Amino acid sequence: MGKLDGRVVLITGAARGQGEQEARLFAGEGARVVLADVLDGPGEALAKELGEGLGEGRAAYVHLDVTREEDWAAAVAAARERFGKIDGLVNNAGVLRFNELLSTPLEEFQAIVSVNQTGCFLGIKAVAPEIAAAGGGTIVNTASYTGLTGMAGVGAYAASKHAVLGLTRVAALELAAKGIRVNAVCPGAIDTPMSNPEGVDPAAAGALYRTLVPLGRIGRPEEVAALALFLTSDDSSYVTGQPFVIDGGWLAGVSLF
Ligand SMILES: NC(=O)c1ccc[n+]([C@@H]2O[C@H](COP(=O)([O-])OP(=O)(O)OC[C@H]3O[C@@H](n4cnc5c(N)ncnc54)[C@H](O)[C@@H]3O)[C@@H](O)[C@H]2O)c1
Repeated sequence: MGKLDGRVVLITGAARGQGEQEARLFAGEGARVVLADVLDGPGEALAKELGEGLGEGRAAYVHLDVTREEDWAAAVAAARERFGKIDGLVNNAGVLRFNELLSTPLEEFQAIVSVNQTGCFLGIKAVAPEIAAAGGGTIVNTASYTGLTGMAGVGAYAASKHAVLGLTRVAALELAAKGIRVNAVCPGAIDTPMSNPEGVDPAAAGALYRTLVPLGRIGRPEEVAALALFLTSDDSSYVTGQPFVIDGGWLAGVSLF
């Protein structure tokens, strides 16, 4: 018995990083997963691998740029045709740029908001009716610890992630009567391509996390996937509208030693 037996879950940004681990874990827990991304090569390869390992018909890849409403409509139609329904969504796709506010070009600000915030809104809008038609289900949005606090150098990103929490709360209120629970994960520093951009020395980053994070290390994408699984499964059946911080204790307070 898997925790997601019989479920069909669409995961955006599923080609790598946290989305990849969510797809692997959810499929292992019995879900049929729709992997959506703009990285078609890795996304298709992962869907093939999961299908070969767990059985044909367990995973499918769709090209989905979360900023494009027409892509959402096509992805939903493809998922319905392949699996008959959708009753879970993980809005995971996201982009990060480092820039101080006063140096951030408008186009860069809007590009980040477009993926992280508008993409999340479009996902809720496109998929919630499908989940309702399936008799209810779950939406997990991916915010960040910068959805709850500030961090210099990531103004556009932090603004978009604060907005994801607003969307999460309103969606939880508006969709509860349709049997849809909506929650958000707020990861701290997690070891994925996003947090390892070119030019960052891994040794220096490791030393930084040992100092800054109470648990003394960067998080693993599998750990975020486990939280997303909790929020997607019936284990969280009385939970909706909430942000869940997963950050090794970084936001707990100020460490002096
Ligand atoms: N890694 C971290 O430290 C961290 C911390 C807090 C929050 N997050 C959030 O977690 C989520 C996953 O990030 P990650 O760390 O796995 O990063 P990642 O860069 O490894 O993965 C992000 C995925 O999103 C996809 N994507 C980007 N733009 C897209 C678009 N327009 N349409 C569809 N897919 C798109 C990418 O192709 C990629 O596969 C993001 O929302 C990110 O903001 C990450």
